[in-house]
Amino acid sequence: NIVFLHGQFMPMSEAKISPMDRGFLFGDGIYEVVPSYDAKLVGFGLHIERMQNGLDAIGIKLNMGVDDWRNIAQNLIEKNGKGNLGLYLHVSRGADVKRFHAFPENIQPTVFAYAFTIPAPPIADKLKVKQYSVTSTEDLRWKRCQIKSTSLLGNVMHFQQGREAGVDETILYNQRDELTEASACNVFVVKNDVIMTPPLDNQLLPGITRNMVLDILRKDGTLHIQERPISMTEVHAADELWLTSSSKEIAPVVELDGQPVGNGRVGDIWQLAQTLYSANKH
Ligand code: PDD
Repeated sequence: NIVFLHGQFMPMSEAKISPMDRGFLFGDGIYEVVPSYDAKLVGFGLHIERMQNGLDAIGIKLNMGVDDWRNIAQNLIEKNGKGNLGLYLHVSRGADVKRFHAFPENIQPTVFAYAFTIPAPPIADKLKVKQYSVTSTEDLRWKRCQIKSTSLLGNVMHFQQGREAGVDETILYNQRDELTEASACNVFVVKNDVIMTPPLDNQLLPGITRNMVLDILRKDGTLHIQERPISMTEVHAADELWLTSSSKEIAPVVELDGQPVGNGRVGDIWQLAQTLYSANKH
């Protein structure tokens, strides 16, 4: 496995970072995961734009543009085989000489990237697609969830809660009992042929897949779309529930908190949405 670190490509076994790296000590960094199928990157420009927004939000100055990132991504794809890959891109604030909370002056950010195998994208067939089960719990993360921070302990603990309950994901709600997102996905709800998802704010990541799904569905124009707060009562009464993320695309959920979602089978609206997404992504 060939990775990119400190400006060079090298085998993973030779990649070393300082224990004083603030990514290691504080989770002080920003990351992205971009899917690539047969060397075709999906939503690359949007991912890099979100990464730059994150770096600006936490005050990391990095002189890298979309072309530099694309160059690294394409090299990693070349060097690691061209199948179904996730590209992990990571920038931490860098390594200081001591552990101290304040941002150090004059340190170089640490840039790391590597490629890992992901499943093939879902086929838009409601009888063959993987069916997901989820539980729900109160969102106990911080109030800046729009930043794709490498400080993921809150997400990790929520994801693990789901694992221990024997399900695939944990969907999250705020103190007002409104849906936010899931521990590593955005969430969509379908009721009476209306597709709903929570509006963008500090409670959720502006998912690239979420964004592309909304764009593609709006362009198609056959279904009604609403970006609005969604109560957990509505979530429990949904006809369909979907998770979206770069590596999953649109994932249909058939069980929530031990109860069937809708009729307990993958829905027709999911099939339509995933068909449109498969045809129009990139
Ligand atoms: N997860 N919400 C959270 C909290 C996420 O971590 C992710 C992505 C998403 C979906 O975003 P996108 O559509 O841009 O992938 C929503 C990545 C894949 C991860 O942490 O591995």
